[in-house]
Amino acid sequence: MSTEDSHTRSLSLTAEPASPPDVAADGTWLACIACGETFAPFETIRYTCDSCDGLLEVRYADLPTFDDFSGRGVWRYAEALPLDVDVTIQEGDTPLYRVPRLEADLGVESLRIKHEGMNPTGSFKDRGMTVGVAVAAELGVDRLACASTGNTSAALAAYGSRGGMETLVLLPAGKVAAGKIAQASLHGARILEVDGNFDHCLDIVQELATRGEAYLLNSLNPFRLEGQKTIGLEILEGFRDDYGAWPDRIVLPVGNAGNTSALYKAFRELVQAGELEPEDVPKLTGVQAEGAAPMVEAIEKGADAVRRWDEVETRATAIRIGNPVNAPKALPGIRETGGTAISVSDEQITAAQRDLAEEGIGVEPASAASVAGLRALRERGVVDDAERVACLTTGHLLKDPDAAAAAGREPEPVPADTEGVLTVLTGDK
Ligand code: F0G
Repeated sequence: MSTEDSHTRSLSLTAEPASPPDVAADGTWLACIACGETFAPFETIRYTCDSCDGLLEVRYADLPTFDDFSGRGVWRYAEALPLDVDVTIQEGDTPLYRVPRLEADLGVESLRIKHEGMNPTGSFKDRGMTVGVAVAAELGVDRLACASTGNTSAALAAYGSRGGMETLVLLPAGKVAAGKIAQASLHGARILEVDGNFDHCLDIVQELATRGEAYLLNSLNPFRLEGQKTIGLEILEGFRDDYGAWPDRIVLPVGNAGNTSALYKAFRELVQAGELEPEDVPKLTGVQAEGAAPMVEAIEKGADAVRRWDEVETRATAIRIGNPVNAPKALPGIRETGGTAISVSDEQITAAQRDLAEEGIGVEPASAASVAGLRALRERGVVDDAERVACLTTGHLLKDPDAAAAAGREPEPVPADTEGVLTVLTGDK
């Protein structure tokens, strides 16, 4: 299960040359992670490598140090991003909560909850969207599109509207939580409900993007992941300021593995900039729902690639995904940081949702998977009691009001008079 034994602690990409190819007039370029081919970032729209269809990532001639960061929110990290602020709704700067009771219960040295549900549209997607939509504006596109289990569609709709662009979202019919559809709807997205799962939606929207119908803003888009890197940067700065030490481990829910890839990239860039020692990179630890766990399967089997699951099911609909498109970026991230991956049941997810709620932190089911995974890893002895751990909670409780109501207490009907209310209250005793 754990990959620690085989972990070499040599982040393989630290060795890559930082010298820009000739396409990089402004010190930023795109590189294929599979064949290494490079492209100018803003001249032509492309999502994958022209030569081998591999995943692309953004590269920089100059990597910033912590001293280069100033200001607030995602754009505090502008020096680590491919362009300057354009379309923003003040995303980032989310709380890194202390949870003393949960920390004692789980028995780790320190536990913090990075609550990404506190972003403008209630999920971490805003961090990627502020950058992705800014790039779309730079490219001059007028229609944005995504496939989504809900949160991406809410963020796309909000940021697209803010940027004055048309938005189109493809959702798996009947499998998206109510709050998310409401957001996409009010922010004016055209919502297409697909008779299929998320992976089918992504297949279709990729095809639409390839045919030039819209600009794709799923996490396959390398610019989105640049914005999501800032989660890792904020966690590191938060631990440094509070403990004078980096976190040992970051536990996060995994769907398309965009965050896993983005955090790994953030840490690699810090290592390359000389800001972080390779042995100090936090162990990236991914959690999936048992009914949608292809990444966990690949980590457990030591496989180089992820097998697509055609049938997926979980109450944590945000991570109801069978084909994590960022796996080629995320698998090395988990392995080379000495992390691992684990799956949890829907019951464990709901229990963790309640654990967080007892600390005053309201999250949607997928978010609670991180805490459920940490508990399971403690029980298996994979996570040490001396570890400083950050759990990422990716979306707000109100995203999925039905799941919250099902996990919480039932409202009780009472008559409209004090005596009647008192009768009900004393009846409890
Ligand atoms: N948590 C929440 C609340 C999410 O909405 C998602 C992904 C994830 C975790 C997984 O993150 O893909 O970076 O591994 N939601 C996407 C969407 C798929 O369409 O909203 P990942």
